[in-house]
Amino acid sequence: MGDQQCQERSYLSLKIYPPHSFSQKALIDTQQKYKALYKESIDNPELFWGKVAQEIDWFKPWEKTSNGELIHPQWFCGGSLNVSYNCLDRHLKGNRKSKRALVWEGENGESLTYSYEELTKEVCITANVLKKHGVGKSDTVVIYMPLIPQAIITMLACARIGAIHNVVFAGFSSKSLLERILDSGARLIVTADGGFRRGKIIPLKTRVDEAASLSNQIKKVLVFKRTGSAVQMIEGRDYWMEKERAGVEEFCDPAVLDSEQPLFILYTSGTTGKPKGIVHSSGGYLVQTAFSTKMIFDLKEEDLYWCTADIGWITGHSYVVYGPLANGASIFIYEGAPDFPSFDRFWQLIEKYKITIFYTSPTAIRAFIKWGLQWIANHDLSSLRLLGSVGEPINPEVWMWFYRHVGKEKCPIVDTWWQTETGSILISPLPGATPMKPGSATFPFFGISPEVVDEQGNPLPPGRNGFLVIKGPWPSMFRGIYKDENNYKKIYFSRIPGVYFTGDGAYKDEEGYFWITGRIDDVINVSGHRIGSAEVENALVSHPAVAEAAVVGIPDPYKGEALIAFITLKEGYLASTELVQVLKDHVVKEIGSLARPQEIRFLDTLPKTRSGKIVRRLLKEVSLQGRITGDTTTLEDSQFIDKIGKI
Ligand code: WTA
Repeated sequence: MGDQQCQERSYLSLKIYPPHSFSQKALIDTQQKYKALYKESIDNPELFWGKVAQEIDWFKPWEKTSNGELIHPQWFCGGSLNVSYNCLDRHLKGNRKSKRALVWEGENGESLTYSYEELTKEVCITANVLKKHGVGKSDTVVIYMPLIPQAIITMLACARIGAIHNVVFAGFSSKSLLERILDSGARLIVTADGGFRRGKIIPLKTRVDEAASLSNQIKKVLVFKRTGSAVQMIEGRDYWMEKERAGVEEFCDPAVLDSEQPLFILYTSGTTGKPKGIVHSSGGYLVQTAFSTKMIFDLKEEDLYWCTADIGWITGHSYVVYGPLANGASIFIYEGAPDFPSFDRFWQLIEKYKITIFYTSPTAIRAFIKWGLQWIANHDLSSLRLLGSVGEPINPEVWMWFYRHVGKEKCPIVDTWWQTETGSILISPLPGATPMKPGSATFPFFGISPEVVDEQGNPLPPGRNGFLVIKGPWPSMFRGIYKDENNYKKIYFSRIPGVYFTGDGAYKDEEGYFWITGRIDDVINVSGHRIGSAEVENALVSHPAVAEAAVVGIPDPYKGEALIAFITLKEGYLASTELVQVLKDHVVKEIGSLARPQEIRFLDTLPKTRSGKIVRRLLKEVSLQGRITGDTTTLEDSQFIDKIGKI
């Protein structure tokens, strides 16, 4: 056993208690209190969530807390509210009018601050511009923007008028953008002329033009100015936001919306070749994101909270925008990458703005470790009081590094497990109460009943790895896959009836701590981003040289997992390093740079079952060990095993 493995093992039995100074001021300050409230939440979920829901403002109270269903759940039935009102207007009544709502720094060092009053005004103006362009309740609006305040303003503007936003991450290609536009039925896109990334300009508007040229569904494009780069504007379709806002009213009445009104659709990769449009509600989503933000980040009035996620992902929706703003918190956002112009960019920002809560991903932390301590050493990080991690399993030694060198052993770390579908965090420590174990997401959040089960749904004893499932419904649970009822039921509720199937593997230890081991389906987690094998395979096969493709993920010290593609070529094409490059670029063009395979390997044939399914499991084994040990009895071409040895 190597040194590192030895160290990993020893971390597994380590327990780190929340610092006394933190617990003293925390909302939940002991494990006993957590346990008591947790029991209450599980014994009587209706009563529990009914109480929690009173923390947000309702225009009309709900009649029934929930319909009790796991499939097609409904929460706070009959109630009406407005999410943007809860994130903005209600804070103006108290003493948060001039409180900082949003602090932003651009990659080029520009900075902007919006008070709650200013943010409300901006959201109202943008909502009125949307209305002027014909957007109404339940219309879908695609948002394809860099991480600038206007992106968040546009999300809230949609929420204000009951439009459904569909944010597409700015790293996606025009083809991925088009796919998401078409599936969600959007006719209007909000974008920017570009965004800055590592000193270069991301040509967002040009990508929108490419997407729009392939479909006549897109009728209008509203463009914010960010980079000042030259862009083409098509008369009657494209409008500068700066011009459009002139002359519109500065107030917009928040629409009175049913609790179940969809707030947004967010696409995420799954096992099918097509991304799934995950639909979230208004009432249930807001109640739980607001409550979990308050409890898990132990929010205080003076905090400046920085979650480094982009708004193109669920973490950006729930824990950059809706959860913190519903609590009247001050949020910080940064447009650029952590390594530009130098490796200490994040530490500079924490020092300059006196960030108190820092929520990031294991991939980012692994990069910090690689760059070295010298980049942290000269920065004063003493403003930090709480750290968080999300998106992938965090290795214990990475956890320890974060704890020691960023938190200086004074900040608890909340390792938060959840998914796009769950809407909010389901398993996490409570920072003032939970004894932490590096690498474990620890215990379920209030109202959540996870279990580790076998193929038949039987609970497994401690230490045994199995499927992570959730037994009962919760308010922020997704309401469906947009226009895909079949896959909604099949993927999440069929394999093990009666529970929500997460697609993750996990085990519980003797003390009931949950340890998430990663995806058990054909979803690959690269740098905390979900990528479906089938999507990358489709992209590869769309190239004229490729006959068949199989994509697997293998552990990577920096990215969590890396993509390895196995392909067979069509007649007349020969394997070459040039072709490898061409194919990698092709995948970037089809999906976006986040899906670029790390390696492409050529084979004469791919391993398939007798029913024609590619056995990715075997390819993964080969990538990992260079040999095959798994069960191969259902393979169609057993000679494959001989051939693969020669790759
Ligand atoms: C993984 C991101 C281990 C997991 C919020 C899940 C994690 C997928 C953790 C969802 C964590 C997320 N520990 N694994 N703390 N958090 N994951 O939908 O595999 O982008 O199923 O949501 O990320 O990714 P998604």
